Parts: sequence; structure tokens; C-alpha cells
Amino acid sequence: MPNDRLAAARDAALAALSAAEAADDLQEWRNQYIGRSGEVTLLLRSVGSLPAEQRAGFGQAANRLKNELEAAFDQREAEIKADSGPIGAIDVSLPGRKPAQGRLHPITQTIREITAAFGAMGFQTFEGPEVELETYNFDAMNIPADHPAREMFDTFWLDRVDDEGNNSILLRTHTSPMQARIMESHEPPIRVVVPGRCYRYEATDASHEWHFNQVEVMAVDEGITFADLKGTLYEFARRVFGPERKVRFRCDFFPFVEPGVDMGVDCFNCDGDPACRICRGSGWLEILGAGMVHPEVLRRAGYDPERYTGFAAGMGVERVAMLKHGIDDIRHFYANDMRFLSQF
Ligand code: FA5
Repeated sequence: MPNDRLAAARDAALAALSAAEAADDLQEWRNQYIGRSGEVTLLLRSVGSLPAEQRAGFGQAANRLKNELEAAFDQREAEIKADSGPIGAIDVSLPGRKPAQGRLHPITQTIREITAAFGAMGFQTFEGPEVELETYNFDAMNIPADHPAREMFDTFWLDRVDDEGNNSILLRTHTSPMQARIMESHEPPIRVVVPGRCYRYEATDASHEWHFNQVEVMAVDEGITFADLKGTLYEFARRVFGPERKVRFRCDFFPFVEPGVDMGVDCFNCDGDPACRICRGSGWLEILGAGMVHPEVLRRAGYDPERYTGFAAGMGVERVAMLKHGIDDIRHFYANDMRFLSQF
């Protein structure tokens, strides 16, 4: 009789359930009796093969049994959990998952290193606007509207003017406008470093991004000379690139300094090895542009150039980071690839 088979299955299932003692036993029991191919499930499915007059009664009885066993399963599971306490729910043999550790972006780290090196020499850190007025970015820097030096900076112009309607707005192309902003609002002596993002309307390649970071350095006081510029930048190079560093200065042109120079440090990676991937065999790494603040820049800021002199420098932070870490493509910094970023 089919109902006898149900009764036998019930007795066997309940006996096995009360013998179950752990989560594994429960799982096994579920498979054996009420899982997809469990005994009771198969009995339930066999209803179609019975004579028509037995089907309804058997089907109802089998369903009742399945419900009863599911309730009994839930109860036994709760008992086992209660017996074994909270530890029972945790599989202590599973290997742990290491929490991902956050860290500062390599460019942030480099900015901090640079500003700390100057901070140790008495320079204060300032920040300024990335959306800048044309007057600060260019005019105050001795680059009037028709000056060919404007072509040095491919500029992102904003489609609006300032509140008075007479000053175009742009994304700053360098941090140098902060020279003028700081001189305007402070009295000498001034010793500042200004890290910040800059933007240029340039095609990107391995050494150029359309946005990048610079650190501007400026000291203005009575009696500041080119020797101060050299000494300060030399000390910076030693602090950031290593105590054995040598530096060299070569003439360069920027409208806002006179004289203007660029500074290189001797390659810390090689002894002039032509295969060196960092200096490409030249033995020198160009780090920054610098010079004595142009008298016209001082005058525009309201300082008397007969009384005050100063030096200024501007360096590309990505360039410093690339040289320090031997990175051959600036675009790695902004691709957000964890395989690259997690090296720092
Ligand atoms: C300037 O921007 C001057 N304001 C620097 C300066 C300041 C000179 C004070 C004298 C006195 P330059 O255009 O060379 O100069 O840029 C300085 C550095 O910014 C470069 O050496 C380079 O490292 C970085 N830089 C410039 N353009 C890009 C770019 N598209 N992508 C990444 N880095 C850049």
C-alpha cells in the first residue's frame, strides 16, 4: 500500500533527524529525505503512477508528510545551533579574508615629500584656485595678451568672464599665478610652496597629461640672491633624491623670471650608463624651471623691486615621482589600476 510506504519513510526520517548532531548531518538528512531527489520527494512525484482513485488521498498525505518533515528539520536545526552556541555557526577552518588596505596616491605622497623638504627649510604651504583669472595666470606673470609666450601654455578657457565682465576665466596652466596672489596679500619676508593641479590643452603621451600637478616655490625678501636659489634647490634635491646628489643649472626662458634656469640632478640610477631608462644615458634629470622673480612681477604685485628680490621655481610633481620610482609613463598615475597603485 502506498500509504505504508509513507509511514515507513516518516519513521525512518524522524529517527535519522533526531540522530543528526551537526550542520553536516542536517544537510545529509535533507538530501536523503526532502531534497530534490530525496525519498519523500520521489514518493510525492510517484503520485501520477498510482491508480486514479488513490492519487488524491496519497498526494495529500505525501504533502503533509513533506511539510511535517520540513518543520521538524527547522526545529532540529535550531536545536543544534542553540547547543553549539555562536561558534558553531563559524567555520574556523576557512582561510581568512585579508582586508584591503588603503593608502595615499603616489602623487599625493610625492607632494607631501616635496612640501616636507621645503617645510624643513622654513617654507609654508599654500593652496590656490584651479579655476583662475587670466590676469593672474598671464598678465601678473608678465605675459600680456599679445605676448608670444602665451603659446607656451595651451589653455583651457572657460566660456565666461568674471563678475565685472572684463576678465577671462581659465583652468590655470601652472601654479605660478599663486606668486602674485601671495605677494598681493602678504608682506615680505615670504617663503612659500604651493602644490596644486594644473591643466593644459595638450595631447597626452608618456610624459604629458592634460592635467598634472606642480609645486611652486617662492622666496621674496630684501637681499635674496641667486645663491639662495641654488642653495635651496640643491638642498631640496638632496632631501628628495638622496644625499649624494649633484645639481646643474642651465639657462632657460620664462617671462616671469630674470635670469631663468632649469635645474637637473645627476641620475641616481646609473653612472652615465647609456642604457639607463631613467636618464636615457645623459646622466642628468631635468627637474624644474626656476629663476629670480622678474622686477615687473614684483612691481605689479605692489613690491618695490629696488628693495625686494626673490627667487621662484616650479616643478612637475608627476615628473619627480616618475624619476624617483623609475616609472616610464605618466598615464599610469591616473589609470586607477590597482596593480600599479598598490606598489606605493
Ligand atoms: C612652468 O609651468 C613655469 N611656471 C615654471 C616656473 C616657475 C619657472 C617659477 C620659473 C619660475 P613649464 O611649462 O616648463 O614651466 O612646466 C614646469 C613643469 O611642469 C615641467 O617641467 C613638467 O615637469 C611639468 N609639466 C608641464 N606640462 C606638463 C604636462 N602636460 N604633463 C605633465 N607635466 C607637465
